[in-house]
Amino acid sequence: MQNGRTVQQHTVTHLMTSAIKPVRKAVFPVAGLGTRFLPATKSMPKEMLPLVDRPLIQHAYEEAREAGIEEFIFVTGRHKEMLEEHFDYQPELMETLESRGKTDMIARVRRSEMPAGKLFLTRQPRALGLGHAVWCAKALVGNEPFAVILPDDVVLAEKGCMRQMVEFYEKMGGNMVSVMDVPREDTSKYGILDTGKDDGKLAEIKGLVEKPKPEDAPSTLSIIGRYILQPEVFEYLDAFETGAGGEIQLTDAMAKLIGRQPFNGLRFDGTRYDCGSRIGFIQANLAYSVRDPEIGPQVRAAVKKMAESL
Ligand code: UTP
Repeated sequence: MQNGRTVQQHTVTHLMTSAIKPVRKAVFPVAGLGTRFLPATKSMPKEMLPLVDRPLIQHAYEEAREAGIEEFIFVTGRHKEMLEEHFDYQPELMETLESRGKTDMIARVRRSEMPAGKLFLTRQPRALGLGHAVWCAKALVGNEPFAVILPDDVVLAEKGCMRQMVEFYEKMGGNMVSVMDVPREDTSKYGILDTGKDDGKLAEIKGLVEKPKPEDAPSTLSIIGRYILQPEVFEYLDAFETGAGGEIQLTDAMAKLIGRQPFNGLRFDGTRYDCGSRIGFIQANLAYSVRDPEIGPQVRAAVKKMAESL
């Protein structure tokens, strides 16, 4: 009897886990205008801004690889070609580095190369909002769960934020967003959760509101730029409904999945930096550079000196 129950439990667990499709694809929406960084972003994509020694898009790509993602879908737009070129193999550069014996640098550059046949490109002709950008990837995503990573949201963590999400997703399936607490006066900058069951790590999502006023916000738990979504979200994005700020919002389409499919918010371990803003970008550069084995000690000394003179 004991054995029979164990077998039965195993079968149920197996059925549950086998129904959870793995997350193999990630969408990187990079078609935004980056107006907060003008004029730096007049002809260069915001996602090419360097965080210490790698552009934001490469940080996002490396986080996706660490999470086991196999296919990388860029939603690009005008003046964004630099983003795909960054992941090319550059024979002349490699030859020069080899002839100079720069083996360390060769290894670093190789980290920026995308495996053949794994980068997919689609274009968003006009920046109509994040929901529209994700919708532009519909044909490339197909009928399977997928990750969305906003490269201008950077998470400094021991284990990558997307890896953390995938590990929870593999146990429970459904839809998932990474979340963090924000000051109440800031709720109008984020997508905010209305939560159900909450164990302090994972919060069941009962509702989602894009950029609510502090007095209307159902909580202070906000979505950051990391998502795992089921393909059914495209059914709602198809409607092209505009929401907050006159943009087609991803949050609005996600909100319609609630009740139909499980939806959870994961309080990730790590620190998130909003690299879409100048202050967040500067903070991220400081946080990453003080941890850099090569330049860290110098940066720390320079920051200390500067702080003393302020
Ligand atoms: P943001 O909200 O930061 O917008 O987009 P933005 O246009 O890039 O920057 P600002 O506000 O003008 O300074 C978050 C992410 O979504 C992408 C952006 O490229 C960025 O990675 N995005 C946004 C799109 O791909 N398309 C859009 O229509 C909007």
